[in-house]
Amino acid sequence: MNIALISKIAAEVGTPFYLYSEQRLRQNFQAFADAVKTLNKATVCFAVKSNFNPTILKILAGMGAGADIVSGAELELALQAGVSANKIVFSGVGKTRTELTAAIQAGIKQINAESESEIRLINDIALELGKTAAVGIRVNPDVDARTHEKITTGKKENKFGIDWNDAYRLFLSAEQFKGVSLHGIEVHVGSQILDLEPFREAFVKTKKMLTALKDKGVLLQTVDVGGGLGVAYKADESAPSPADYIAVLQDVFGDFDGEFVFEPGRCLSGDAGALIASVVRVKQTDEKSFAVLDAGMNDLVRPAMYDAYHTISALKDGKASRTYDVVGPICESADIFGKDRVLPELDEGDLVAIETAGAYGATMASNYNGRPLAAEVLLDGNRYAVIRRRQTVAEMMGLCQPAPWV
Ligand code: LLP
Repeated sequence: MNIALISKIAAEVGTPFYLYSEQRLRQNFQAFADAVKTLNKATVCFAVKSNFNPTILKILAGMGAGADIVSGAELELALQAGVSANKIVFSGVGKTRTELTAAIQAGIKQINAESESEIRLINDIALELGKTAAVGIRVNPDVDARTHEKITTGKKENKFGIDWNDAYRLFLSAEQFKGVSLHGIEVHVGSQILDLEPFREAFVKTKKMLTALKDKGVLLQTVDVGGGLGVAYKADESAPSPADYIAVLQDVFGDFDGEFVFEPGRCLSGDAGALIASVVRVKQTDEKSFAVLDAGMNDLVRPAMYDAYHTISALKDGKASRTYDVVGPICESADIFGKDRVLPELDEGDLVAIETAGAYGATMASNYNGRPLAAEVLLDGNRYAVIRRRQTVAEMMGLCQPAPWV
């Protein structure tokens, strides 16, 4: 990291702020796009939930990315960023009539339905609009992703997807849905997966479904394998490359001549971002040294919510010689970014970077403890731009209004 440049940005923008590397984001997308070139037909849809900053979306859209969306607002964001509708896929267990209507009207690539009643609703809306909606069934593969329990999605007890047998029955009775072209299958196993085996298991099950359907004369056109490829958060961790992942897919699906859809989020945006914060206080107790930052769990909730590990580095020279618990200012014991981190001696005003925060960082932020949302800055070589300025207190409270009787 370029300490001088980051210090300059911090002086200008204030802390905390998210800092994104355009170069890294582009490299990550390119690596994925290159890996899928070996496939017959593929669309890489960036999981907007991991980072919905319009500039980030515009960079990816410009490189040919599609979008994986989970709400009506994400649909608007993707379209505004220049993603063409035929590269947008829509998942989620609770899509509303309004959201589905917007998606059908926009003519998106595929709505991944997560229940039979959703398919019926899509069918009704499409018929009312005089359109045919492209629909995929999100199946629940019942595979253990071996990741954090709060980000595993493909097990039977999770709320996601349609049970294997029900999906099979629905595909075979697709004729009943006159407003729907039921031509795809989606299987998303979970997130932050570092072991390729759960993917293989899910692919094998999906392939079996394709074969069973083919035997009945039903040919699916798209296989959407979701997202989930992990990133290295720790120095000693390593993540499979997109090429390794695609090799497993090819190994399982070999002869499939339809289209593959991918919904990567974290492995594109994760290591392209860091949360930059200042040390506001160094607090010594009998037990510990605490480095208290001006960023808190409201800015980056992953450590508090998932016990997630993020590498923390001090943006100063000096030997890592002191052990700190790096914490935020929020009135919650869970507001800890990292325990027992060995860093150079820290002083008030020093900058630290909480790394690999480009995915599920800014998008999960809140105003808890009366804290305006942090700024976001894009870095490209030596130039930088504020791509979301810091929220003001007035903006934070701008939606509130008095009750007339108070
Ligand atoms: N597709 C579907 C249907 C998903 O549910 C998700 C993530 C993705 C794609 C993108 O997954 P990725 O490639 O980013 O792993 N907030 C959590 C992660 C939640 C993931 C939710 N679904 C975290 O900070 O770890």
